[in-house]
Amino acid sequence: MKLFSCLLLTLISIEISAITPQPRFGGDSTLLKRRLYYYGGGIDEIGNMNTSTSQELIYLDIEKSFEIKSGLSAWQKVNVTGDLQPEANYLYAMAVLPRSNSIAIYGGAGSNNGQLLQNTAVLYNETTGSWQTIDDPQSNLKQVYLASFQRGKGSIGYLFGGRSYAGDVYPPFAKEMQIFDPFTYSWTTGAAVPDEYGVRFRTPSALYHNDIYYIGGMSANYTNTQITHDNTMVPMSDILIYHIDENTWEKKTATGDVPAPRIMHTVTSKPNTNSIMVFGGKYNGMHFLNQPTKSVAAYPFLVSDKFMVFINIIATSQHYYSNEWWRRRLRIKHRLNGMGKKESYRCRSRTIIWTFSCFCRL
Ligand SMILES: *[C@@H]1O[C@H](CO)[C@@H](O)[C@H](O)[C@H]1NC(C)=O
Ligand SMILES: *[C@@H]1O[C@H](CO)[C@@H](O)[C@H](O)[C@H]1NC(C)=O
Ligand SMILES: *[C@@H]1O[C@H](CO)[C@@H](O)[C@H](O)[C@H]1NC(C)=O
Ligand SMILES: *[C@@H]1O[C@H](CO)[C@@H](O)[C@H](O)[C@H]1NC(C)=O
Repeated sequence: MKLFSCLLLTLISIEISAITPQPRFGGDSTLLKRRLYYYGGGIDEIGNMNTSTSQELIYLDIEKSFEIKSGLSAWQKVNVTGDLQPEANYLYAMAVLPRSNSIAIYGGAGSNNGQLLQNTAVLYNETTGSWQTIDDPQSNLKQVYLASFQRGKGSIGYLFGGRSYAGDVYPPFAKEMQIFDPFTYSWTTGAAVPDEYGVRFRTPSALYHNDIYYIGGMSANYTNTQITHDNTMVPMSDILIYHIDENTWEKKTATGDVPAPRIMHTVTSKPNTNSIMVFGGKYNGMHFLNQPTKSVAAYPFLVSDKFMVFINIIATSQHYYSNEWWRRRLRIKHRLNGMGKKESYRCRSRTIIWTFSCFCRL
């Protein structure tokens, strides 16, 4: 009986605190201690230029295996302590810094109303359940959005790319690697991306060994006085690499079944493999301007300097999957359909090749 009421209480409290979040996009999620955290996001119809944005911090506990369907209604809203509540935001850059038990959020398009954010960089400390502000290392750009914030080894954060959200900054692009140490709250500036590689925005990244890979997204060409080409889609074959140990940049060219160019996709290293997975995204952000759109393959690609795998999944949406979300689904799928057929290919080790294998449902 005691056990029963205990169970009942647990069930009741789960029911009370769990929420089904509204659909949202343009936010980001990250995994910290088996909790998948998601901040803010645009909450209107996908692609609405005038979307309103959220300031909700929610998480999904992925400690145990779950059905994707029931997972949708099992999110928890974080009860933030302290005085600071970050502003509504989307199109920001987010990095998990696990050793300091924190999540950093940088820049973004805020409330999407042309107003600049009060705090351009904030950090959520999971230990205290509170937010604090951190310095903006490139405050001259006024507010950078569409950047990428990636954790490196030792929970150091690597911030790169993006562009100014303010209309009066020229040139608006962020070219330097900015390196954040969460133990001292200090930033150092790393190497700028070489001009011949071009700037990047809307480009996600993955930590692969001790390098950061930037795949896809957009670039621009500009002179001292004007932007000559803007929002150009970066070919997925152009893999931009930042070597953390050497503080140097390199560009490699991928071959094989190169996916169509895309933005708003996710890339992540597949643990214990030599592969980076690329998933989802869309062709461009301009369809509200009546420009032609192309759909992109919703299945993931793996890029690797050794083995390549293509996994065909049944995707419910092609947008905005989190790295960790995907990684978890992959793990679940593997467990559920362990008999999935996989093919892997070998190739020259110095070149990156795109190829695939089919992960078939039986
Ligand atoms: C937040 O507070 C509400 C009301 O006190 C509670 O029901 C809920 O479980 C709390 N959420 C978390 C994640 O602790
Ligand atoms: C967005 O808002 C602006 C200004 O209010 C308006 O001119 C424009 O038509 C709106 N666009 C969409 C897609 O609703
Ligand atoms: C988070 O809070 C804990 C407890 O106050 C503190 O020890 C830790 O240094 C904080 N972490 C960061 C990144 O500020
Ligand atoms: C834009 O810049 C990139 C990188 O510097 C260069 O490869 C490309 O040719 C340029 N495109 C145009 C149209 O100038």
